[in-house]
Amino acid sequence: MEEAAAAAVSSESGEGKREIWIKHYSSSHRILLVGEGDFSFSACLAKAFGSANNMIATSYEKLLEKHSTARIHLDELKRLGCTLLHGINVKYIHEDSFLKVKRFDRIIFNFPHAGHYLGFGENNEELILMHKKLVCNFFSRARRLLSENGEIHFTHRDDHPYDNWEIRGSAKQRGLLLKEMVKFHKEDYPGYENKRGGDIRSNETFSLGDECFTSKFYLNKTWI
Ligand SMILES: C[S@@+](CC[C@H](N)C(=O)[O-])C[C@H]1O[C@@H](n2cnc3c(N)ncnc32)[C@H](O)[C@@H]1O
Repeated sequence: MEEAAAAAVSSESGEGKREIWIKHYSSSHRILLVGEGDFSFSACLAKAFGSANNMIATSYEKLLEKHSTARIHLDELKRLGCTLLHGINVKYIHEDSFLKVKRFDRIIFNFPHAGHYLGFGENNEELILMHKKLVCNFFSRARRLLSENGEIHFTHRDDHPYDNWEIRGSAKQRGLLLKEMVKFHKEDYPGYENKRGGDIRSNETFSLGDECFTSKFYLNKTWI
């Protein structure tokens, strides 16, 4: 059996419908993934569900140029019925003619990162500002595409210097409340390879450290 399928749990919903879960994600959720690297995370979910009709997976970067490992995952996703979109900038998802009319139960961005620039370490203030802008754009646009009880799942390192990004404060300012922060373990998603992206060694993976979380946010309904 495929490893992703083995990591999945099957249950029956109230209406007697078979539902497949992998960690926080169900085959009955309408799922949008943004900023995918080589699409291995999307492919893991799709394989666990056995179908990707409920998923829209997107990338921002010039994909095949940067991620030599993407082809196999894209082929699998197409076979399983996933909608694939490329060149999707989170800053404009709320204006995209295809996306703006849809609502999602889960919007997932794993390890957002504004890019790698020669001479810019992760402590660089300019780079931190770029990360913060990316996070803020993502929260303010993604919230508009959430279903009533939908959740934004933001997976990130929370150790220094990543804690400078002020993720929870940024979400709160954009009408999103933290439901919970759950430790992220890559092994829970068989086949997933977290990728650096950006222009330097883009298809390489990177260390996740010991302080890695999926932060789940939901709409603050009293926010104006
Ligand atoms: C560290 S990589 C993580 C890639 C992938 N999510 C993963 O977990 O392997 C950061 C990703 O953020 C994406 N990204 C950066 N700016 C973006 C933007 N404005 N809109 C959408 N994605 C963006 C990049 O394309 C890159 O794939």
